[in-house]
Amino acid sequence: MTNIILLGPPGAGKGTQARRLVEERGMVQLSTGDMLKEAIADGTELGRKVEGIMARGELVTDEIVIGLIDEKMKSAKGSGFIFDGFPRTLPQADALADLLDRSGQSLGAVIEMRVDDEALVDRIAGRFTCGNCGEVYHKTTKPTAKEGACDVCGSHDLRHRADDNPETLKQRLMEYYKKTSPLIGYYYHDGKLAPVDGLAEIDDVAKSIAVVLDRTAAS
Ligand code: AP5
Repeated sequence: MTNIILLGPPGAGKGTQARRLVEERGMVQLSTGDMLKEAIADGTELGRKVEGIMARGELVTDEIVIGLIDEKMKSAKGSGFIFDGFPRTLPQADALADLLDRSGQSLGAVIEMRVDDEALVDRIAGRFTCGNCGEVYHKTTKPTAKEGACDVCGSHDLRHRADDNPETLKQRLMEYYKKTSPLIGYYYHDGKLAPVDGLAEIDDVAKSIAVVLDRTAAS
């Protein structure tokens, strides 16, 4: 069982690749972004607490996201975890190492998805998601087969994310470079870092990730 982190800036394709790994390999996607958005949609106390922070494109506190991951790791069952959008700070990375250690697990690889800022702006501007099943689309690179309907579940509830606007994206990118990119050095030092070309076509990115996973599983 291999546990991996998908590390990359907003719009790098973490969610897109995580969903494929769930489907193709039975892995478990643990996306802190999705957990937080679910809390907002459900109108929970946590959702009310984080809504403004996320709308501004800032990071929520380490304590909150570490608590969410801890809880999910205890209940989720599958063939390895995909940490999608977590960790995003050095304290989160230390906490993840502790959580894995305490549950007798380890980290197989950290897949760094490299995409330049220009492509990120385009990806974020063109992204829409299915409000029912969460499938992610893009107006040019991954449109729905039938206009206005989700390919997976047929729902017509196709939405743009509230934080997918140029102003918030700028802040999200700043947060990434300031607080998350130091993790590249952290995991390089651990010998876990596996960079992939995130600018390639979706299928080709998936192939590069598969190579890393197979190599990690065999070692
Ligand atoms: P989160 O939901 O995690 O957002 P994010 O990291 O900004 O990542 P995105 O979901 O925007 O992008 P993605 O890499 O998944 O790309 P996608 O596959 O959709 O976090 C949201 C907020 O929650 C944060 O701002 C923060 O406030 C808070 N938060 C979450 N986790 C936190 C944490 N650990 N600590 C503190 N705060 C936290 O792809 C994007 C688009 O590109 C899609 O349209 C897709 O179809 C398209 N696409 C994907 N791959 C390709 C490709 N290879 N070629 C062409 N198009 C592609």
